Amino acid sequence: MKTRLTVTACLLAVILPISSLLATELKPIKLPPPNTKGGMPLMEALKARKSTRELSEKEIPLQVLSDLLWAAFGINRPKEGKRTAPSALNWQEIDIYVALKQGLYLYNAQTNTLEPVLGEDIRAKTGVQPFAGRAPVNLIYVADYGRMKNAPSEELKDFYSACDCGFIGQNVYLFCASAGLGTVVRAWIDRKELAKAMKLRDDQRIILAQTIGYPRQK
Ligand SMILES: Cc1cc2nc3c(=O)[nH]c(=O)nc-3n(C[C@H](O)[C@H](O)[C@H](O)COP(=O)(O)O)c2cc1C
Repeated sequence: MKTRLTVTACLLAVILPISSLLATELKPIKLPPPNTKGGMPLMEALKARKSTRELSEKEIPLQVLSDLLWAAFGINRPKEGKRTAPSALNWQEIDIYVALKQGLYLYNAQTNTLEPVLGEDIRAKTGVQPFAGRAPVNLIYVADYGRMKNAPSEELKDFYSACDCGFIGQNVYLFCASAGLGTVVRAWIDRKELAKAMKLRDDQRIILAQTIGYPRQK
């Protein structure tokens, strides 16, 4: 009995570090340069913009993900480092976390890279509604309050970060309309649970999440 327990303990000692290594082994993803030409005329995209919750599990190609993130909050004026969405005092305080099946990444607009954060599938934790856990991409918009220097009050930090996040969300809506993708922005999130899963700092606040995927064929 004692021998069996020792063998089991030894096996666990070997297996556990390997599995925890696998869980954290997530490599950066260099995104292809965004395709910033073409797309649907703006007025047609506005006409098609809508929330979609019936989404298929089909993966989104990396090129489309790159285009989507650039549209969301990419750099459109490299000399000034300014972005496709405005932000109060140009704080650029909203970070876009990207939850994919293989793990959680942080979008780095400067390097056009997805930086690894967590080798875990946390899609289901990004929202209370079950479709979030099945859709290929969930964006989590997180405000870095530490970046909002000289804001007159904490209340104004809440207000500005909510406004700034809204512009990004609408950029994503319009891109999705143009690219034939479905999307829905979401506030119905267990923020405490998600912040814990994402290992966020105290000065990081989850504002909204947004689910993206190809519309499910009826
Ligand atoms: C701030 C905000 C929070 C939202 N939260 C959710 C949500 O948690 N879940 C959801 O299914 N839809 C959510 N929505 C989407 C709205 O329900 C949707 O925009 C509204 O019904 C209008 O539909 P439309 O986007 O197709 O015009 C949210 C929208 C906004 C702007």
